[in-house]
Amino acid sequence: MTTYEIILKKRNGKQLTKSEIEYLVSGYTQGTIPDYQFSAFLMAVFFQGMSFGEITALTEAMIRTGKIFDLSDITGFKIDKHSTGGVGDKVSLILAPLVAACGGINVPMVSGRGLGHTGGTLDKLESIPGFRTDLTENEFKKQLKKIGVAMMGQTKELAPADKKIYALRDITATVDSIPLIAASIMSKKLAEGIDGLVLDVKTGSGAFMRELNDANKLAKVMIEIGKRMGKIVVALITSMEQPLGNMIGNSIEVIESIECLKGNGPKDLMEVSIALSEEMLLMGNIVKTKEQARQLLANAINSGIALEKFRQLIKYQEGDERVIDNYNILPQAKYRIEVKSHKSGYIQKIDTLAMGLLSVELGCGRRTIDGKIDDSAGFILKKKIGDYIKKSELLVEVVGQDKNKVKTVSKKILSAYKIGKEKVKPPRSILQRM
Ligand code: URA
Repeated sequence: MTTYEIILKKRNGKQLTKSEIEYLVSGYTQGTIPDYQFSAFLMAVFFQGMSFGEITALTEAMIRTGKIFDLSDITGFKIDKHSTGGVGDKVSLILAPLVAACGGINVPMVSGRGLGHTGGTLDKLESIPGFRTDLTENEFKKQLKKIGVAMMGQTKELAPADKKIYALRDITATVDSIPLIAASIMSKKLAEGIDGLVLDVKTGSGAFMRELNDANKLAKVMIEIGKRMGKIVVALITSMEQPLGNMIGNSIEVIESIECLKGNGPKDLMEVSIALSEEMLLMGNIVKTKEQARQLLANAINSGIALEKFRQLIKYQEGDERVIDNYNILPQAKYRIEVKSHKSGYIQKIDTLAMGLLSVELGCGRRTIDGKIDDSAGFILKKKIGDYIKKSELLVEVVGQDKNKVKTVSKKILSAYKIGKEKVKPPRSILQRM
């Protein structure tokens, strides 16, 4: 079949074979299939969907464009966590050292940069002076063996098809497609050479899957792909109805993560971090029950070993580990504007997509592939859904290096908040386990 015929077949709602999918993915990655034809294929998938078999074939084909890390000489379970993306989602920075500190599980984490309105773990880590995320496979393995945790960016060898396809999806309105998201995430994660994966599938106003039903479908698909490829996969569906924690940005999210490891984390962020960490400990057979997991995690925080693990991780990756005790080492914002409430009432809704987009406008994320990030920029949220606020009371602090951006963005913040007379409950953090 020609590329044209395969596109036509998908456009007409037919199932593609494994070899047709392989042909398209390898051809596009090698450059023999042009952007315009692969875009048409992506759009056909967006409208026609894919069967489990097709999504698995797509994932496998994407993995085969690169290599799979061989972590077989590392003893103990290798378990990673992946989030589908959110605003203020700094869970990886907390969970990776926390789980590794409990012992018995290795956490090989390959993370991404900010995508669209969502923040990226790599951008947050790189706000720590000196921190290297460009580890080689050897460095990654060596570090895992030594300290049980390593966090790096996608290399050229790890599912290179995903990088190329993702960039194309980003500009052809084909990001929010369940088969494409599932294959993108699972190809990267399964190429890490892990035994198991805990997924944090986000839903709500700041998630790619706004509806619970869609998040549920996405989770099911990723679990099924994992199963077909012999991996244990568990998913939690968690809320992105409001930003997670109180900080949105890069260096300020690092501060909030360190505070979590010191035992001072905000409730919603700790709930999600602990729930996902529990799943990792259960999956690795480190504990038998959730209660035991909870206890072990609490001990790791209270005794300070989780914080020490984060210090060790920063040091191994050449970051300035003094940041743990001195936040002034991080890039500091020059400008700060206080956004105050225009009326009294309860915070009823936060448009989290809008907050994410505003954070990008402020400089927390990139607007172009090679755009520059302002590590110091961000929002410090003083009130969340369910809180009462008085007229003229502080709602959000906007910080950053660029005076104009801080000014412009701070003027737009209020429109993301719905404040009303009726009291509302804060959204539940964990919605489902699958
Ligand atoms: N995260 C990914 O890695 N890929 C997607 O397609 C969406 C979120």
